[in-house]
Amino acid sequence: MILSQLFSTKPFKHLMHNANEENGMKRALSATNLTTLGIGAIIGAGIFVLTGQAAAQYAGPAIVISFMISGLACLFAGLCYAEFASMIPVSGSAYTYAYSTLGEFIAWIIGWDLILEYLFAASTVSVGWSGYVVSFLKDFGLNIPPQFTAAWNTVLIEIPNIGWKPLTSQLADSLSASGIAISNLPHLTAVLNLPAMFIVAAITLLLVIGIKESAGFNNIMVIIKVFVILLFIGIGFFFVNKVNWHPFIPENTGVWGHFGWSGILRGSAVIFFAYIGFDAVSTAAQEAKNPQRDMPIGILGSLGVSTVLYILVAIVLTGIVSYTFLNVADPIAVGVNEMGKGLFWLRPIIKIAAIAGLSSVILVMMLGQPRIFYAMAKDGLLPPQFAKIHPRFKTPYFSTIITGFVAFLLAGILPINILGELVSIGTLLAFAIVCIGVIFLRYKRPDLKRPFRTPLVPLVPVLGASICMLQMYSLPLDTWLRLIVWMVIGIVIYFTYSIRHSQLRKAKVNDIDNHRK
Ligand code: ALA
Repeated sequence: MILSQLFSTKPFKHLMHNANEENGMKRALSATNLTTLGIGAIIGAGIFVLTGQAAAQYAGPAIVISFMISGLACLFAGLCYAEFASMIPVSGSAYTYAYSTLGEFIAWIIGWDLILEYLFAASTVSVGWSGYVVSFLKDFGLNIPPQFTAAWNTVLIEIPNIGWKPLTSQLADSLSASGIAISNLPHLTAVLNLPAMFIVAAITLLLVIGIKESAGFNNIMVIIKVFVILLFIGIGFFFVNKVNWHPFIPENTGVWGHFGWSGILRGSAVIFFAYIGFDAVSTAAQEAKNPQRDMPIGILGSLGVSTVLYILVAIVLTGIVSYTFLNVADPIAVGVNEMGKGLFWLRPIIKIAAIAGLSSVILVMMLGQPRIFYAMAKDGLLPPQFAKIHPRFKTPYFSTIITGFVAFLLAGILPINILGELVSIGTLLAFAIVCIGVIFLRYKRPDLKRPFRTPLVPLVPVLGASICMLQMYSLPLDTWLRLIVWMVIGIVIYFTYSIRHSQLRKAKVNDIDNHRK
């Protein structure tokens, strides 16, 4: 009985019933809203923070190729998401797709795994947001006490002319290489990251108030960040010095992942974070006006726009500044510095764009998570409170507040690197399962109506899943261990709560009882 329950799939007609039933949420999102929602979730810390570090440490100017490789993997996964999202326009995203193809247990695993993507990404990016806000305010002479700007227990040191920075082993190495004794610098231990907690709380409030208000805020943030990125590309183009592109692929240092082709691969795994988010579009399926047509447009459109912008930023940035100077938290601002004093006015604008960009990523991630909880609660795998819709605001307010509360705590106490790697491994796993799910459903239910079909099946899903798994493989052992611990917690919850409350199980038991009568 247990085994058959673990692998029982949700019948397609139930899914379509769920998609069409009056669920209390508003169908307010157009194709344009969905595309901006995707761009809102995608363009953020990846391009504003990680690009420079990945170029400086791993790939050099060939970070452009890393962006192409990672973009291709996401394109394959995006094509698979588009097929599912047009076929099953239900708010649970990969969780729901797995429920219809691979069975309840895998669906639970993926739903649990998606928490790592959405909820943890919201916390990760809010830590990045905090960094930019602190630096922006500092430019205007407003200083937040440093002990309230970093994760709990982080040791901070004050570097002359730069300010307070977390003491990492890399920073310690570079300070001692420049002959600075760390023990002579002022130290303190951080308590909480208050700005990160603030943005999570503010966005939670906005999300409870309404999907339309949230989409409106997102649109404004997206316009600001895309405009400023285009400005950077347009102006930066004239400051490219081709010398900076030579050598385009710096020679490998003898260590795997340090330049050369292995560096390009490692760079692609690191900047994968920059692409995360296009799948969040699929969580809003039940609030889309015409989901079957517009979901693929939203997913693939946002991915396409972001990929082109990323590649152009990478080309221009590595052309303006030598990649060796890019190992900083604000590489785009460093690029602007290099353009000369005449363009200093662009610096605060870049920071505003980064703050706007990061805000919209947090918003869309925190919009996605409650909708996955909602779908899981509807299926009985989570307590029914998670499916509660606010009578006036028409939003899943209970799960939004729970998401907000946990993200708020994580943002306050955890550092960005631990959070970020967990997000990447969790997302890669979800993408791989979705790719495999497409092949599975093509063979199991070839008859189903697919308004959008992934091309070249099984080649595209196989390539998508393989590249995702390869990227997972390249992540550190610690991250794997954290993933395993997280999954074990999820499995315990499944066997102690979800399996007994599953609506699918209840429906089956009822069927058997009726049959006996
Ligand atoms: N892609 C998102 C970012 O780069 C998560 O911030």
